[in-house]
Order: sequence, then structure tokens, then C-alpha cells
Amino acid sequence: MDNLPPQRTLTFLFLVLFFKAVFSEQDSHVQLASSVTGWEGSCAVLPCEIIYNHDIDYYMWFYNPVFDKTTSDYKGTIVYHSTKMEEVDSSFIDRVEHIGMTVKNCTILIKNLQKNDTGHYKLRKIWKDNKWMSKQELSLTVSETAPELKLHEVPKMQENKEVTLTCSIDYFCPSNAVNFTWLADVNRKVTTTDVRNDISTTRTTTSLTFVPSWEDNNKMISCVLDRMNREKENKIIQLDVKHAPKNVKVVVKPDGKQFLEGKSVSFECVVKSSNPNVTKIKWKKNDKSVTVSIGNKSIEAADAGTYTCEATNEIGTSSSDAVTVEVHYKPKYSDCKINEKNKKEHDELILKCPSRKSNPDITSYEWFKSDELYSTTTSDSIKITNLKLTDSGYYSCRAINPIGRGPKAECEYIWIHYAPKNVTVGVSPGNYVTENTDVRLNCTAKANPAIHRYSWYHNKKPLQTSQKEYVIVNIQLSHMGEYYCIVDNTIGSNTSQVIYLHVSYSFYTIAIYTAAAIIPFIILILIVVLIIRFRICFRLKNCRKEDRSDSAFFVLKKTNNEASDHPGHHTRSEDSLTEQINYSSLQFPISTNGGQSQPGTIYPNPDDIYSVVQKPATTADYENVKKAEDDSQDDIHYSVIANLSSATVKERGQEVEYAMLRQ
Ligand SMILES: *[C@@H]1O[C@H](CO)[C@@H](O)[C@H](O)[C@H]1NC(C)=O
Ligand SMILES: *[C@@H]1O[C@H](CO)[C@@H](O)[C@H](O)[C@H]1NC(C)=O
Ligand SMILES: *[C@@H]1O[C@H](CO)[C@@H](O)[C@H](O)[C@H]1NC(C)=O
Repeated sequence: MDNLPPQRTLTFLFLVLFFKAVFSEQDSHVQLASSVTGWEGSCAVLPCEIIYNHDIDYYMWFYNPVFDKTTSDYKGTIVYHSTKMEEVDSSFIDRVEHIGMTVKNCTILIKNLQKNDTGHYKLRKIWKDNKWMSKQELSLTVSETAPELKLHEVPKMQENKEVTLTCSIDYFCPSNAVNFTWLADVNRKVTTTDVRNDISTTRTTTSLTFVPSWEDNNKMISCVLDRMNREKENKIIQLDVKHAPKNVKVVVKPDGKQFLEGKSVSFECVVKSSNPNVTKIKWKKNDKSVTVSIGNKSIEAADAGTYTCEATNEIGTSSSDAVTVEVHYKPKYSDCKINEKNKKEHDELILKCPSRKSNPDITSYEWFKSDELYSTTTSDSIKITNLKLTDSGYYSCRAINPIGRGPKAECEYIWIHYAPKNVTVGVSPGNYVTENTDVRLNCTAKANPAIHRYSWYHNKKPLQTSQKEYVIVNIQLSHMGEYYCIVDNTIGSNTSQVIYLHVSYSFYTIAIYTAAAIIPFIILILIVVLIIRFRICFRLKNCRKEDRSDSAFFVLKKTNNEASDHPGHHTRSEDSLTEQINYSSLQFPISTNGGQSQPGTIYPNPDDIYSVVQKPATTADYENVKKAEDDSQDDIHYSVIANLSSATVKERGQEVEYAMLRQ
């Protein structure tokens, strides 16, 4: 042993240890395998080793040996004799062969096994006068059928971790060998090992070592046993390769990357393979975790983005490739902005219509003024220079992209500010008024912003008011003159036209004034008249008489013609009349002065009729006749009946006659 090379020594040691482990009963002299199986017609190897090394004369294999106490010897069928072949039982003589290569290797091979070869086999060695029967016995079983192909426990498989599958048959016989084949379509096969020479276990084993990939999951691997004269036998293993989710994909249906908003689109996280099953799916949109509802949904603008999904199982997590989804829609959320709200005439106005969302990009803008198309632009703003008042109004805008038109965005109302214009003073009731009326002056103007101050002027002097309306109560002549107003707003001021207010006297005033002018004049005239009269009186010395002579008296003449003609009827008339009647006698003018008349003063016309009226006793009978102071003189009154022709007299005889009396 000492001269053996180190490698051999190692192998030997290993085997020794191996045998010690395997053989159940320890025997310091011989070691045998414990059981060997075979079937009819096959062969069996009976492994054996002589341990205790001394000079052995010979050894024998016994079949079912029995100890005979009488001869103190073993009796039984000798299967093999190391030196004397003739001692071997005839039933084994041609079938048994020593295959151990060394002296100590007592392994034999029994060919063409018979059913009754089943039994116990022992080894007996003889040296000098010593005999030793092995304590162990090898049990050989010869069955009609071959032993079953055994599949060893399949280890747990995980991708990329090397694994070995083992298949075996409890049979070993080099001269009647069996073949194993592995039918395996695995990606990375490493080795196939056939352990055919395992004498200690008398078992033929085959194993397949490979590194499984996830794609090998569920594949079938067959261990096929090919025995001579027998049908092939196989064991099938279905691979259960645990692996993290594989080929995770975001599947968007319908297929595509650009969708019109509102279209029904479904998102799905598809995992090609996962063992065990996926327990969790996580979605990410633009690298942020989101919840994605699986199944059809109406896609919205906000759904655009880059999606990935992550599938997790017990083994690990896998992520899909990113899928970018674009959503097309009309422009949204337009907004109208004005550079500055308060604009003056001649200013510049810039309207901006920024649209925050549009896909694809906005191509043009439409502008409206009071809902009528005003302009179309490609930029998002318009500029109106040199503003006019008519530019005031409601503006709106909307953005357009190839998908459609966005909503209208209303701008704020644009007021063009300007200094007051058309400043006008209105007069009520009118420019021509009479005094004491109430006059209203109203100052109107167009202005933006509104007028905040009104100033009134009368004959260029400011008035104490700042109201729009200036009311003059009970207008007087002093209010006559020029009026105008000046109005102010924040932009500027402007002046109205000048109006002239005429104030005239009222009728009452005129009457008063007229009266005032005439009365002194009348008084003057009266004075003058009086003076004149006074002077006449003075010259005549007897104003009283003169006065009396000018007085006219009306004499009532009763309707009695006879009375005047015939004084004799006086009494009768007196009876019928209660009042007193004056009698008159008519005297026709004569050339001679027949009466007491005073012809010197009166020269009557010959046609006139004179009456001489006898004054009654009392003056009370006459109207307006003062009683003469000296009765004697004034007893008779003269009257002249003027223009009384004779004809007339006759005709008017029935009526009352009037006469002017003269003294
Ligand atoms: C004995 O010989 C057999 C057959 O040649 C061989 O397979 C076996 O390994 C040998 N045993 C030892 C212990 O050397
Ligand atoms: C005043 O008003 C008139 C028209 O009423 C206008 O033409 C003029 O420009 C105005 N003046 C100012 C200073 O705005
Ligand atoms: C203002 O004045 C202009 C011209 O002076 C005239 O055409 C316009 O009608 C006026 N507007 C008003 C409201 O009076």
C-alpha cells in the first residue's frame, strides 16, 4: 500500500470509508453488499472485499449456507471457489465469474440469473487451518420483472441556478448493461452523468445537470431506460422553474400611440411568464406611480404620457418597457388677456389669447368683436393701434389646431377712455324767459370715464355749483347773460357752447311801470286844466253864473201835446198826475221882443221853438236846479228846443221831449 501513488491511495481510502458507511454490519474480515436485485436472464454482481489481509489459501461463495454442528462445518451450495473449480455446484459452474481484479477483491458476477438464485450469499475464507465465514450476508433477489426505474426527488428549480436531476435503477451488471437517455430540450444543458459502476449500491444511476432558464418552465424532461430485451421505460419530469415575471409589456388597445381624445382605449399589463403567479401589478406614468384602470376607458388629454408597468411575484419584480401614448385634442382653456384694461383714444391695445393646452400645436387664432369675426392670426396676440371710440366692445378669441376649434375665451369689456365730448347746455323752458320763472340749465356730455365735475359760468364768472343741473329759481333780469359749463373727467375737460339767456319783464311789471309813468302825466294835465279854468273864472268874475249857464238840464216833458198848447187843461192834468208838472208855453220867435226873455243874449234860429218854462213854486221840482237867491229874477227858465222842425214836432208830439234849458 505504501508504494501506491497518492491518488490511488486517496481513492482507496474513500472507498473504504464508503463501504464502512454503506454496509450495515461491521466485519473486520470481509465486506459484502447487503442486497442485489436482478431479474431472470439478467446478471448480478455480488460486490465483495477481503479486508483483513493475510495469506488466504482460498475462499468460497456460498449460497444459503447452513452450519452443521456435527461436523462443525458449513454445508451449502458452493457458488464460487477461488482455487478448486470442481467444488462449484453444477448449477452455477458456467454462470459465475470472478471479476475482482485484485486478490482482495472477491467480487463475482452471476450471469443468466434464475429465479431460484434468490437467496443469501456469504463468503468463506480459508487460510492455514483457519476458517472464516462472513458475518454479513448478501441477499440476492431475482424477480420476474425488472426493477422499476426510479426518479429521485426533483430539487426545487429556480432560473439560473444549477440543478441536477437523477434517475436510477436498482440493478447493476456490467455484462448485461442498461442504457439511460435524457430527453431534455433545455437551453443550457451542463452535463449528463451515468454512474454505472456503483457496486456498493448495485444500482445504476443517471443524472442530468443543467442551468434552467425561465423559458424551461413547464417543459418535460424524460429519463429513458433502455434494457436489453425489455421495453423502454421512462420517467417524465415537468420542470417547475421559479422565476420573476418575464416579458412584462404594456399593451395598449387599439394598437397605436396617438389617440383622439374621447376614444375608447384600454391599457393592460401583460406578463408572458411568471412562476409563481404575479401578485402585484404597479403602474407608472412619467416615472410616478399611478392607478391605471384596466379595461376600456375614454382617453383624456391628461392620459397622455409614458407608461410602464411592474409585475411582482415571490421571486422578484420586472418592469416593462415604456410606452408613450399621445392624445390629440382641440385647444383647451383659452384665456384672453389685455395688456391694460383702461385705454385712451389713440392708445394701442394688445389682446393675447394664450391657450394652455393643445395637441397637436395650435395653428391659428380667430378673434371676434361682439361675436363677429374680427381677425385671424397665426400668433396668439393682436395689436390694435390708434384706438378709436368705436373700438370699444366685447372681444373674444379662440385657438385652432388640426383637430378643431377650441372654446371661445371672452376678453374683458374694453372701454376706450376719452375726454368729454359733445358738451351741451340745455335750457328749460327756453332761451327767452320772463322774469320770475324757474329756469333749468342742464349740462350734458359724452365721457368715459364718467364726469366727476361740472363747473358753471355766468358771464365768464364761475358759479357756486358743481352739479350737472343749474337751477335758477325766480329768474331776474340780473340773471340774463351768457352761460356755459365745463366738465372734467380723469382724461380731461371740455367746454360747452355758450348760450344766451334772455329775460324779459312780466305783464305785471309792465303795468306797474306804465301806471307809474301815466299817473303823474294825468295829474299834470289836471293841474293845467285847473289852472286854465281858474284863470277863466277869474276873468269872468262870476264863475258861478257862468258855470250855471253852461250846465245842461234835462226836462221831463209829459206826453201831453195839449198841455203845451193849452194851458187851460192845467187843472185836469193836475188831477191825473200826482207829481207836479211844469208848464211851458211855446213862443215862436218873433222879431219883437214880446216876453221877458233876454233877446240880447240869444238869437234863436227862426226854426227853433222856444219854450218858456214857468218855474214852479218850489225848486225841488227841478233837478239840479239851485234855488235862486233872488226869486224874483229867476222865476222863468228858458229852454231851447233845438232842431225841432215843425214837422218833427207834430210827429213827436206823443213822446217825451227833451229840451236844453237856458237861463
Ligand atoms: C473489485 O472489482 C470490481 C470489478 O472489476 C470493481 O468494480 C470493484 O471496484 C473492485 N473493488 C475494489 C474494492 O477495488
Ligand atoms: C371737446 O369736444 C369736441 C366735440 O364735442 C371735440 O371735438 C374736442 O376734441 C373736445 N376737446 C377735447 C379737449 O377733448
Ligand atoms: C357728438 O357730436 C358729433 C359731432 O359733433 C355728432 O356727430 C354726434 O352725433 C354727437 N353725439 C351725441 C350723442 O350727441
